[in-house]
Amino acid sequence: MKNIKQIALIVALVFQAALSYAQLSWTETAPGVWKAAAGVPENYDLLKASGATPNKEALSTIAHAGFPLEQSDISIKVVDGKTYLRFPLQQDEQLYGFGLNFQTVHQRGKILQLHVDHYGGKDNGRTHAPSPFYVSSKGYGVFINSARYLNIYAGTAVRADSKNAPVAKDRNTDKSWSARPYSDAVEILVPAAGVEVYVFGGPTPLDAVRRFNLFNGGGCLPPRWGLGFTQRVKTLYTADEVKKEVAAFREKGFPLDFIGLEPGWQSKSYPCSFSWDSTRYPDPAGFVQDLLKENIRVNLWTNPYVSPQAPFYKAIVPYSGSHTVWNGLVPDFTTQQGRTLFFDQLKNNQVNIGVSGYKIDEVDGYDYYLWPDVATFPSGVTAEQMRQTFGLLVQRYSAELYHQQNKRTFGLVRGSNAGGASFPYVIYNDYYNHEDFITALINSGFAGVLWTPEARASKSSEEWLRRFQTVVFSPMAMINAWASGTKPWSYEDVAEPVKQLALLRMQMMPYWYTAFARYHFQGIPPFRAMSLEEGFVPESKKENGSASLEDNPYAEAVSKEIRDQYMAGDYLLVAPLFTGQKTRKVVLPKGRWYDFYTGAFAGDGEVITVTPGLDKIPVYVKDGAIIPMMKPMLHAPVAGEKVDLTVRYYGNKPGSWLLYDDDGETYNYEKGDYSWREIKVEKDKAGKWKGSISAPLKGKPNTVGNVTFEYMTK
Ligand code: GAL
Repeated sequence: MKNIKQIALIVALVFQAALSYAQLSWTETAPGVWKAAAGVPENYDLLKASGATPNKEALSTIAHAGFPLEQSDISIKVVDGKTYLRFPLQQDEQLYGFGLNFQTVHQRGKILQLHVDHYGGKDNGRTHAPSPFYVSSKGYGVFINSARYLNIYAGTAVRADSKNAPVAKDRNTDKSWSARPYSDAVEILVPAAGVEVYVFGGPTPLDAVRRFNLFNGGGCLPPRWGLGFTQRVKTLYTADEVKKEVAAFREKGFPLDFIGLEPGWQSKSYPCSFSWDSTRYPDPAGFVQDLLKENIRVNLWTNPYVSPQAPFYKAIVPYSGSHTVWNGLVPDFTTQQGRTLFFDQLKNNQVNIGVSGYKIDEVDGYDYYLWPDVATFPSGVTAEQMRQTFGLLVQRYSAELYHQQNKRTFGLVRGSNAGGASFPYVIYNDYYNHEDFITALINSGFAGVLWTPEARASKSSEEWLRRFQTVVFSPMAMINAWASGTKPWSYEDVAEPVKQLALLRMQMMPYWYTAFARYHFQGIPPFRAMSLEEGFVPESKKENGSASLEDNPYAEAVSKEIRDQYMAGDYLLVAPLFTGQKTRKVVLPKGRWYDFYTGAFAGDGEVITVTPGLDKIPVYVKDGAIIPMMKPMLHAPVAGEKVDLTVRYYGNKPGSWLLYDDDGETYNYEKGDYSWREIKVEKDKAGKWKGSISAPLKGKPNTVGNVTFEYMTK
């Protein structure tokens, strides 16, 4: 009896030891990036799928950061084939990220299951890019490199042995009782017996985001034309109808750089044949080339599910999953054969004749369409892992086709994940809430992805214009109104402001292009949250000498979530209005801010209320801002084309800014064929503003013509 008791005790102790948390051992794998292996990580993960290579050189230029957390506060255990991770949280810490959320920017207090899916109206982890990466307001980031559905408890769970466990309260008598007591940890359940974990140092939250992006190879650098306007045409359009649409843009004097063909260019869709339909497109090469002569590029919609009519159908059977999507095969892109068969067809049939890129649809969800979690794939990658990485795989291997030809592409995709920052794709979906589209734009900057708040249809001219305004201040200026048939000029009463906005987008191309170069070379998201902005600090409540948030509207505003204004490029703060809104509040961070349109002083570390009128989207500019503008061209400048610049200067602070330049179309920048030219604005001896630009670098592409300066603040 005694023996049995002893054995039971030993068993219990061993069991408890197995259950108890262990510490991770961290190695600095790139400057300011630490890696640890918990348990035995799986062979297939997000970084394997994306093939991302860290830009260590760029990482080393960010201010040095030490390991940002108390290592003993991070713990892990592996039980029952699952990994449990725990990261500490401080009382005054906010969290951002966990993928492309649409309704919330602050993530502390969330319970999520990260799962690639079409966004279903709730921030529950099911989204187009559920990147398992979070950023803390304390200036660090955490990335779980797993292609699994992860359960996240972002400051909700309370451990009995927590260092800061709140005391139990009596609800009968204690008014301060809370149904959701304070939690001091982020806990993550990984359904695998191990995982790779990364911690990114700051010192600022933006630095942590930069490190994450650079670790994934840096953000994408689109071709210049990718930053121009794009329109998509109706399903089943013929080559002639597409040409007519292009002609209409030209006649209206409306900019257009690439035109998207929806289902119908292929002989079969849903599933797809990946071959041109010969009745609608009798001469695909001639069609694509004719448009190219007019500086219009063709982008093709597709989903990756293989129709029995696809020429490579039989050959790809052994390299496809056990289950179909709309009765089409699901290629296993992790197999060399699977991707060669599939992408060779795209290359030979489309890329080689000059197609500029793709809109790769349906790689996200819904569950009823896609393969189930019980599906199997020939490579052994599980259905769950395939779901989490399918978007990454299609982006990676389609982008490779363009890389091989030394031509840049810029396309659309509906599913992605962490690891894909360098892929030249923008996420879109079928959801259509304008406010939520802006929140998604803000959150895209934390997820290593790009997002477009496309204009698709609207119930009124006001809505059309308001949506258009945000399209112009986004990564891809897209009108996706093929189904509604709305043209940019359809609403006569707003046709002129819509056109002016489109032309403004074109004028700002040098600014956007540099913003993307910063994304690529420095990891700074071109569109991002206010909380990543210097001067946007909740601490200001102390400096303002106010103890209570209520007496200080600025502190109150920044402690609240801001989901309707964002930063664009180095200098711009964009504060959209939505249908029905005539007036709104704008939170201006510390530092002097100016009106983008007039150059007038707008405020400094305060909350302003603006009533801009229907034709204006409020945009504010930092003190000392330098915004290079070109003339309102209808197409992006072609490779090597020189354009004159008018450099707008705002405020009173001497300004200095680096303008990025390269050929705009090839990957030669990867070999160093680019330059950063310094633009300076300072007062001369007589107290007059004077602007200058540094000389072009010898042997590097130079697309800058004459430079003139416009001093906006009088
Ligand atoms: C949807 C996609 C739309 C459009 C449509 C064409 O799945 O999200 O943008 O391309 O397919 O059938």
